[in-house]
Amino acid sequence: LRTGRGVAHAKVILFGEHAVVHGEPAIAMPLDVLGVRATVRHRPGELSVVSDLYTGPLAQAPELMSSPRAVVHAALDRVGLPLRDLEIAVVGDVPHARGLGSSAAVAGALVRAIADYAGVTLTEAEHLALVDLGERLAHGTPSGLDARATSADAMVWFEAGVARRLATRTSAVLVVADSGLAGRTRTAVADVAAFLERRPVRGAALIAGLGALAQGAALDLAAGRAEQVGAKMSQAQGMLRELGVSSPELDALIDAATAAGALGAKLTGGGQGGCVIALVRDEAGAVVVDAAMRAAGAVTVWHHPIGPDGAA
Ligand code: PMV
Repeated sequence: LRTGRGVAHAKVILFGEHAVVHGEPAIAMPLDVLGVRATVRHRPGELSVVSDLYTGPLAQAPELMSSPRAVVHAALDRVGLPLRDLEIAVVGDVPHARGLGSSAAVAGALVRAIADYAGVTLTEAEHLALVDLGERLAHGTPSGLDARATSADAMVWFEAGVARRLATRTSAVLVVADSGLAGRTRTAVADVAAFLERRPVRGAALIAGLGALAQGAALDLAAGRAEQVGAKMSQAQGMLRELGVSSPELDALIDAATAAGALGAKLTGGGQGGCVIALVRDEAGAVVVDAAMRAAGAVTVWHHPIGPDGAA
């Protein structure tokens, strides 16, 4: 009997989180050291799931799994399989609720595994629509960025719902540090909406400013200007902080990274917890920044080279 397999990976947003929800462009990068693998195989009886969070009939899975459950149902429906006689296993090391796109990565791996099991080839648009469905349940009004970045194999420029490969001639290392605190994407997105409501002029300026930083950073990345990319990251952090999506813990990690010589640092993803990213020139610099961020409270730190030619 066949086994269906699907994989997806984590992502980091370099520029444009939150602003992307309001129509501005964003830049994201696959973080392929962290991944999710899903397998689907025949197992008579109720549709069941095996995962770190829960093992048992999918129908009885906890509330936490309502988004992957909806994705599984929709994907099975699309490929014409009944909601039974299958066991779906999910393993992965993308930490949950850290702004690394775990929900989109899980959904992406599930959709691929189900399509593979059924022997159906989904178009890119169909695949993304199924992942986006899960993202809507996971955090309300997703821009669609995570769905695309978790299946991309290089840096992506995302604008008006469309992702394309972003060329870069910049060589640097991105240090990703997990604060250990759950990010709160849904609340943070709502807080930004409330800010825009309360202070429309300032709010619009900040959103446009974040978009302009993404535009400028794309040019810097293409031209190999690592310092300018770093400086723009720090400017973006100032704007995100003013919008209310940072936190004292994230600020402490960011300050530690900059004091240790990072070219720039900011939160990544929804914020109010989760991860921060710092740009450093090379691996030697990454080691120093890594130690500084751990001393400031980071629980896990990953180093990710940014290579020329968009290779991330
Ligand atoms: O926290 P994450 O990884 O789900 O990223 C959220 C990014 C936002 O721009 C805040 C929301 C979105 O839908 O793009």
